[in-house]
Amino acid sequence: MNLFLADEAATIEFARCVLRELPQDLAGWTLLLEGELGAGKSTFARALINAAGHEGPVPSPTYTLVEPYLLPRSTIYHIDLYRVSDEEELRYLGWDELDDGLRLVEWPDRAPGLTAQADLALTLAYAGTGRQAGLRGLSERGGALVKGIELP
Ligand SMILES: Nc1ncnc2c1ncn2[C@@H]1O[C@H](COP(=O)(O)OP(=O)(O)OP(=O)(O)O)[C@@H](O)[C@H]1O
Ligand SMILES: [Mg+2]
Repeated sequence: MNLFLADEAATIEFARCVLRELPQDLAGWTLLLEGELGAGKSTFARALINAAGHEGPVPSPTYTLVEPYLLPRSTIYHIDLYRVSDEEELRYLGWDELDDGLRLVEWPDRAPGLTAQADLALTLAYAGTGRQAGLRGLSERGGALVKGIELP
């Protein structure tokens, strides 16, 4: 699905719509966030984490690589691979152990192999003063989720 997000508020609202379609238990789900610098990846991640019940700041995981949020609904891992240069480093950050929650991944192109094990990919691109968003399913359940999304 493709849609135009006119401003930051639209990105936040879209994140809420996506979360609504995800199951209560987010274990094992992976959502890739693609797009160039400043495209709105962190805005989307922050909105989704807040909508899932986290109150307070959502710092960038650029240096920590992973920021975990242990929420009543389910754990969410906010992951930023910007500084990762090869797939081996995924093991270093403990990727395989992060399967008890939702993995939200910024800069997934740093580890191209992730596409094969992810459920969803959101691509954000500059479009005038807003952003063009494309959400696609990478797994069967991801594809089903995209079909079920209801926009406000
Ligand atoms: N739909 C939108 N239209 C216009 N501006 C937006 C939209 N969504 C987010 N923004 C703005 O884009 C800016 C950059 O957002 P953000 O930090 O989320 O980008 P990013 O993709 O995570 O960047 P980086 O690659 O540096 O991590 C913010 O100022 C945010 O308010
Ligand atoms: Mg970011």
